[in-house]
Amino acid sequence: MEPLVVTQLLALISLTWALDNGLLKTPPMGWMAWERFRCNTDCTNDPQNCISENLFRDMADRMAEDGWKELGFEYVIMDDCWMSRQRDGQGKLQADPARFPGGIAKLARYIHDRGLKLGIYADMGTATCMGFPGTTLDKIEIDAQTFASWGVDYLKFDGCNSSPVEQMQGYPLMSKALNATGRPMAYSCSWPAYLGGLPPNVNYTLLGDICHLWRNYNDIQDSWDSLQGIIDWFSNNQDNLQPAAGPGRWNDPDMLIIGNFGLSLDQARSQMALWAVMAAPLIMSNDLRSLDNRARAVLQNRVAIAINQDPLGVQGRRLLQEKSRIEVYWRPLAHYASALVFLSRRTDMPYLYHTSLAKLQYPAGNYEAYDVFTEAVVTGLNATTELTLSINPSGAVMWYVYQQADALHYHQRKTSSQSSFHKAKQGHHSVL
Ligand SMILES: *[C@@H]1O[C@H](CO)[C@@H](O)[C@H](O)[C@H]1NC(C)=O
Ligand SMILES: *[C@@H]1O[C@H](CO)[C@@H](O)[C@H](O)[C@H]1NC(C)=O
Ligand SMILES: *[C@@H]1O[C@H](CO)[C@@H](O)[C@H](O)[C@H]1NC(C)=O
Repeated sequence: MEPLVVTQLLALISLTWALDNGLLKTPPMGWMAWERFRCNTDCTNDPQNCISENLFRDMADRMAEDGWKELGFEYVIMDDCWMSRQRDGQGKLQADPARFPGGIAKLARYIHDRGLKLGIYADMGTATCMGFPGTTLDKIEIDAQTFASWGVDYLKFDGCNSSPVEQMQGYPLMSKALNATGRPMAYSCSWPAYLGGLPPNVNYTLLGDICHLWRNYNDIQDSWDSLQGIIDWFSNNQDNLQPAAGPGRWNDPDMLIIGNFGLSLDQARSQMALWAVMAAPLIMSNDLRSLDNRARAVLQNRVAIAINQDPLGVQGRRLLQEKSRIEVYWRPLAHYASALVFLSRRTDMPYLYHTSLAKLQYPAGNYEAYDVFTEAVVTGLNATTELTLSINPSGAVMWYVYQQADALHYHQRKTSSQSSFHKAKQGHHSVL
């Protein structure tokens, strides 16, 4: 056990500063290949959808040209299966030469030229989850250097094929190695997902010191069942997870699957609303070349995005689980505002839910609410005003709640220090 103890100590001494490089003060936004495109390497039969430089160039084009970039979606992230089966003569990782003939540095330039950032994938272990070359402890420095030399901006570091002891060494070491390259890179650690996601196996203080975000739980699949499992796990464990999040350190419940095959429109809104309230990374995995307009509208909802990107960076919580199978989630936001999500876990019909802000622990006062998906404004609220909301089965109603005095105050000094929310909302729909 001695080497582990030494490494742990080293981690404590030298790594509490390691990745405080100013990145990801709000949750990252972007696109990632995995959930939609998996490990499809069959470019002969499926050239449009195989993991290749063409796929990432296509997605970068769409992100730059279809309004995503302006909304904050900036990272184009590769996942497993980009690599050649062998490292090169110098022991460096290299891209599959048939699928990435231009190499990663050239792809990074293409992405940077469009004002976007490139994310890459590696695995702390003897092989990646799909069997490509892994990053064992002795390869951590060279891989970090290689990524920096290519112009990579973000690393997802997976944890297949390694032991907890190796992970305890490898994840902090990679943090240090990324910092030592001098290139600011965001660092996403899959570490906790391999340790059951909870203390005492997972030390969230340490994770927050060395990683910008981390995958806590199972991979998302293209289904409402999978999504519900993730919501339940995160909410049931929120006392451990919620305090771990903050600017530069985020829990990651995994990708947005909106625009694929598994979610209805209501379920898509539910994912967007919950990911916004959970301060989750907004990393889509879908086909931006053929997204339908309803999915696009959900993903490009400016107010949902502004709530997700709130500068306080406080993760929301599940407040209530009613017998009626309505759940209420809440997130405090800058400017004494807040977000509420009313989620229906029912499977019958739109449910009329009766509540009041006081029942949801709001103090006395005068409020207004903006309904994020219908764009309706509810005025003249006080804490005891009786509210009736109609919530579709497996759907969500999302409210941005603000104090009426603040809204007036805002109105009177339109030019000074507007929050991103106010800017977004103004651009979207002038309600104030
Ligand atoms: C490396 O760490 C130091 C100390 O936290 C930080 O100031 C610097 O920005 C980091 N550099 C990179 C490239 O991550
Ligand atoms: C968790 O990590 C932090 C920071 O590295 C350290 O101070 C703390 O002692 C660790 N907690 C446990 C229970 O190991
Ligand atoms: C709160 O608003 C309701 C109407 O929504 C009104 O009947 C009630 O008097 C108000 N209460 C206070 C304390 O202002």
